[in-house]
Amino acid sequence: MKTISIDSLSELPEVADAVVGALEGRTVVAFCGAMGAGKTTLISAIMERLGSHDTVTSPTFAIVNQYRTGEQRPVYHFDFYRIDSVAEAFDLGYEEYFYSGDLCLVEWPEKVEPLIPDEALVVRIEVLGESERRFTID
Ligand SMILES: Nc1ncnc2c1ncn2[C@@H]1O[C@H](COP(=O)(O)OP(=O)(O)OP(=O)(O)O)[C@@H](O)[C@H]1O
Ligand SMILES: [Mg+2]
Repeated sequence: MKTISIDSLSELPEVADAVVGALEGRTVVAFCGAMGAGKTTLISAIMERLGSHDTVTSPTFAIVNQYRTGEQRPVYHFDFYRIDSVAEAFDLGYEEYFYSGDLCLVEWPEKVEPLIPDEALVVRIEVLGESERRFTID
């Protein structure tokens, strides 16, 4: 487990580095934290760290966005906030993504908890102040 506290958005690249460094072959990353904690913002920093030129936005309507790393590897970004039942994740074909071997970055994993692989990396974000955040990588 690793904990990183930051005082401003400008320190987010360090957190992105730590998350990528902690992957060790894992491909599903669950981002837990309250609304507005900074899940999407961290995912954006991670995509930059992976050399992506894609714009990271909340996949609210589509549930899943696809990006490419600098090396053209696909990355999937999920936001399950609007999902009402696990069945909707099945309809979306979540297994094809989670077990594809491609990186899957998941916001609101709590909504589909039984579907998150046991070995997933979990990143918890706590809001300490306006721009202060504590990240726990587990
Ligand atoms: N240190 C920080 N790390 C991350 N975000 C920060 C930080 N300081 C301020 N912010 C701001 O907090 C907000 C986080 O919004 P963001 O959309 O990333 O949250 P979210 O967790 O994805 O929310 P949601 O649950 O609605 O998807 C942004 O406006 C961002 O600029
Ligand atoms: Mg978000």
